[in-house]
Amino acid sequence: MSLPDKGRTTDELLAEIARLKRDDLPVRGGKVTAYVYDTGRPEVHEAAARAYFEMLEVNTLDPTAFPSVVEMEKQVVGAVAELLGGGVGIFTSGGTESIMLAVKAARDSRETAGRPRMAVPVTAHPAFHKAAHYLGVVVDAVPVDPVTFRASPADVEAVITEDTVLVVASAPSYPQGVIDPIAEIAGIAAARGVLCHVDACVGGWLLPWLREAGAEIPPFDLSVPGVTSLSCDLHKFGYAPKGASVVLFADPALRRRAYFASASWPGYTVINATVQSSKSAGPLGGAWATFQALGREGYLELGRATLAAARELREGIAKIPGLRVLGDPESTLVAFGSAEGEDGVDVFVLSDEARKRGWFLQPQLSYAGIPANIHITVTGVTMRGVEAMLEVIAEATEAARERGPAELPEGLVELVAGLDLDALDDAAFGELAAAVGVDLGGSGQPEMAVVNAVLDALPADRREAVLIRFLSVIYS
Ligand SMILES: Cc1ncc(COP(=O)(O)O)c(C=O)c1O
Repeated sequence: MSLPDKGRTTDELLAEIARLKRDDLPVRGGKVTAYVYDTGRPEVHEAAARAYFEMLEVNTLDPTAFPSVVEMEKQVVGAVAELLGGGVGIFTSGGTESIMLAVKAARDSRETAGRPRMAVPVTAHPAFHKAAHYLGVVVDAVPVDPVTFRASPADVEAVITEDTVLVVASAPSYPQGVIDPIAEIAGIAAARGVLCHVDACVGGWLLPWLREAGAEIPPFDLSVPGVTSLSCDLHKFGYAPKGASVVLFADPALRRRAYFASASWPGYTVINATVQSSKSAGPLGGAWATFQALGREGYLELGRATLAAARELREGIAKIPGLRVLGDPESTLVAFGSAEGEDGVDVFVLSDEARKRGWFLQPQLSYAGIPANIHITVTGVTMRGVEAMLEVIAEATEAARERGPAELPEGLVELVAGLDLDALDDAAFGELAAAVGVDLGGSGQPEMAVVNAVLDALPADRREAVLIRFLSVIYS
């Protein structure tokens, strides 16, 4: 982009934005089964958008300058605390920031002889690895059961040391949508004098409504003894516009460990509850308005519809030859993989085939003994299209069977595994990818099966190096 010499009209700009968005996945309608959360109620999204716009230019940097921020945040955080076992909280920009603050609070809550450590099940979100990376904390990975995909309390206990400052459990974990045994894990943490964070980013504003709608949901929130903090994203099942999450702390003293203040310069005094300093109050306004527009009744109805859709989807997938649902998720996140044996299909090809038919089904790479699979986040709008979704999955499965597994050019995996990435600039990497048929500059409906198959064959650290390079290339 170059800066225009003269300012342009709003109409021109909106037309250009529409053009830029032409190849985007649709954010409404339920055909994109990850990333977006759709109530299927345009009036709710409209209320959020207008409130977002109203608060857009308010800066949350200084709560004394903009008291509306304090009042709105207290109302939103208060509603989350009321539903999830009490405590005090902070409104943040998303799950990653909520987790970052929980890890910072734990790290700063006591001195350790060695580097601070945390116990993290392999199914926990990478935000914990990111927080560990940024904050100098060591991750001790905890395996999960290969059938239920839940972290076992005994395995958590086994990795706790004198330096452990935090134990993590998910409600649910994203990949298979299952809830870790929170009460047992939190009990062990408490007995060992360690803090325990429940990552309810995806489930915090979902599980209570599912429970009310009749699902069996075990206790998972701050009311569980030993749970000391919890993250709950409102831009997921709260259906708020992006940039909205809450981190709760059982104890105000722990919340203070998440805060940051600096008077070490000659400018304005800095007091930050979050990682970001200056930031728009738009997301807070959007979350506040979504709560108000839906109310208890709205969320409960969405919970009912979501639960029914997830059940129908699981049952339908189980009937499609060649597929199997992974685990027995309590939530409305559903993962399915290929059946073993002759019937099996390449799930990455299946995902591409679904994309050709206008549906985005999210591929997940194999990891820690868990096979490659497809993830579907069932949301409020899914029920209206669940039959169509099942038809597409069945068709895409059949097409994937006919096509067979993604064919990798011979030696490609070994080539990528042995590549000295530091010796390649972005342009050379892009050319190399093009030479093996992968167009990194392309848009629209990319065929990802080959890329996913190559990544799947690499160890995690290699995957990460390649992914970072990929990001660098697409922004060059
Ligand atoms: C369980 C869980 N935790 C944390 C996150 C990170 O959330 P965000 O993308 O808002 O940073 C996610 C996102 O999907 C998640 O599912």
